[in-house]
Amino acid sequence: MLYYEPFTVRKLSIMTKPVKTAARLQDVSPSGLREFFEIGAKLESQGMDVISLGIGDLDLPLPPFLSDAIAEAFAKGQTHYSSNAGIIELRQAIADRYVDTYKIEYNPQEVLVTCGALEGLLDTMLALVNPGDRVLVQDPAFGYFSNQAKIAGADVELIPMTPDFDLDVDAYRKTIEANPPQIVIINSPCNPTGSVASRKNVKEVVELAREYDSILLSDECYEFLRYDGHKHTCAAEFNRDNVIIVNSFSKTFAMTGLRLGYIIAPTHLMRPIYQVHQYNTACAPTPIQVGATKTLNNPKAFKGIIGHHRAVLDDRRKVAIECIKPLKGFKLTYEPVAGFYLFPNVEQTGMTGPEFAITLLEETGVIVVPGDQFGIAFPNNIRISVGSAPPNRIREAASRITTFLEKRSEG
Ligand SMILES: Cc1ncc(COP(=O)(O)O)c(C=O)c1O
Repeated sequence: MLYYEPFTVRKLSIMTKPVKTAARLQDVSPSGLREFFEIGAKLESQGMDVISLGIGDLDLPLPPFLSDAIAEAFAKGQTHYSSNAGIIELRQAIADRYVDTYKIEYNPQEVLVTCGALEGLLDTMLALVNPGDRVLVQDPAFGYFSNQAKIAGADVELIPMTPDFDLDVDAYRKTIEANPPQIVIINSPCNPTGSVASRKNVKEVVELAREYDSILLSDECYEFLRYDGHKHTCAAEFNRDNVIIVNSFSKTFAMTGLRLGYIIAPTHLMRPIYQVHQYNTACAPTPIQVGATKTLNNPKAFKGIIGHHRAVLDDRRKVAIECIKPLKGFKLTYEPVAGFYLFPNVEQTGMTGPEFAITLLEETGVIVVPGDQFGIAFPNNIRISVGSAPPNRIREAASRITTFLEKRSEG
């Protein structure tokens, strides 16, 4: 059996020699997502035909317009430190996009360019959370939210979502009214559910946070990956004063390894975040900033990239729903309308999410991620990512899962 324990029970201190670790790591779990990625890579190096429905990455090539723009930046020698907060042209282009799309006015000083959204999220936690402060995180959610908040010393409280994976306003109201938290983190479109929060509910949660002087952090990294006409609501549309937007180019431009993201926040919140960023990193990679700026400033190229990525991922989503939904023991109660994930329940297979994921990987070479990586409410779910699996690989994975389940029911 491969080594894996659910992150809720596992501790970091598995070392041969005792080492005095920082107390802030006490409740922080190792990332199971990365772990499955490493196990898959190991099995692949041993000759196994591994199908990754695990990591939230895209196998799509870098869009040619962007790739050319980055290459040009390299050729021109734009490979040195940039301004710590990001090149002004990129910050301006980002600010302009929020005016154009959402009619929200930001000046470039309210935009901070980061090494991916992950840096932005951690900077925010370190800047605004004191030990013992409460941070609310939706359940299920991207596991980094809770763990990064814990690194900053937060007490994390999980807020269940509605059955169709929208924000549960009543649950937020009850919790916030009883004891206002320092930060409320929301994420729409949502990883791992592929759901889009309704405009009404985003508005109500933003307003609740404002009423009780909490900061609302909205992770909008999947903003552009929506299907069937589903619209994105930017949390700052309802109040920019207590809202921090964290966003990224990783998924939009299929460039997860190039590490470019950004934070948008009003000056009083940006100031402390910038202070952490300054001492965290010199700047996001300069040629990538230059390439992204050129792409944002070329509406035809920008729209073309989004349209293409949407079409490819929508096709995969449809194939995945068609293949995964009928699998014996699977319950896909919610069909995703955004992102590139499915979040089925596998309880009827007789296995928990972690049992299913680890046995499946071991016996078939198909990687999925157990639901316990995303909170506590869905231990019998798994997350399936089709970001790196074209339709033929999704079909092949479904066929391997079918055989795997048949063998188990016979045995
Ligand atoms: C909700 C969410 N936020 C942030 C990230 C990380 O983005 P980045 O690559 O920009 O650090 C991910 C990656 O999977 C994600 O799902």
